[in-house]
Amino acid sequence: MRVAFVGKGGAGKSSIAGVFARMLARQGARVLALDSDPMPGLAYSLGVPSQDAGIPADAVEEYEDDDGRRRYRLRSGLDPSAAIERYSTVSPDGVRFLQLGKARGVKGENSLSHQAYQLIVDSLSSDDWSVVGDLPGGTRQAFFGWGRFAQTVLVVAEPTPASVLTARRLARLALHSSAPRVLAVANKTRGEADVRYVERGTGLPVAGSVPYDETQRDADRRGVALLDLDADTPLVAAVASLVSSLSAEEALR
Ligand SMILES: Nc1ncnc2c1ncn2[C@@H]1O[C@H](COP(=O)(O)OP(=O)(O)O)[C@@H](O)[C@H]1O
Ligand SMILES: [Mg+2]
Repeated sequence: MRVAFVGKGGAGKSSIAGVFARMLARQGARVLALDSDPMPGLAYSLGVPSQDAGIPADAVEEYEDDDGRRRYRLRSGLDPSAAIERYSTVSPDGVRFLQLGKARGVKGENSLSHQAYQLIVDSLSSDDWSVVGDLPGGTRQAFFGWGRFAQTVLVVAEPTPASVLTARRLARLALHSSAPRVLAVANKTRGEADVRYVERGTGLPVAGSVPYDETQRDADRRGVALLDLDADTPLVAAVASLVSSLSAEEALR
């Protein structure tokens, strides 16, 4: 399964993506969780120490193609799985966490790290890896590169006008991108009316509804993963059922 979470900043992408990745791993999948958001988030919801290290610039090497154009490839001897082993951290439940690296340092170095990140993500075999991506908030950059691994784009929206408006714009962009499927996830819902609001407002089929969950706020305040604080909460139950329904559909396809 390859999913990318998108949505307005604060909608709940990171909170949901972390639980989603770990629940998928509990089902036995080999899961790579990708954080391409320069703001920290996914590390917390996965329960891995948040550090700034991304992929080092020397993971890639430059070469000239047949037309003399400058290109990049992973350093010789470094295949994508080896790169993941090396540059990712492991969360509880065994999710591999790979991040783009936070924007800092020499500009050129950073762009080499970005090249490496894309090369790794682009060359992963779907048979080996499930991928759960937490894309940057906002509308544009999400689909210009970072999200192209995704088979399913999950647009997270709160039942608020601003959140569904962003979601609607993202949905339009996603439908023009290579992602075959775009679905909404209603978050912080307090009843069926909120789910209908997100459905109408985004114009998307709603794949799942995640209730407002006070324990998530608590986890946030403590800087720990919700799953490590209390695995028996409405958010966890809702995300588990989202994972099950998407996996079941996938098995049929
Ligand atoms: N279902 C939920 N119930 C309560 N709070 C939530 C829920 N989902 C997310 N949050 C809270 O909303 C805030 C934004 O969530 P976050 O996952 O960081 O959003 P994003 O990654 O989309 O910017 C955080 O404080 C988080 O704890
Ligand atoms: Mg986030």
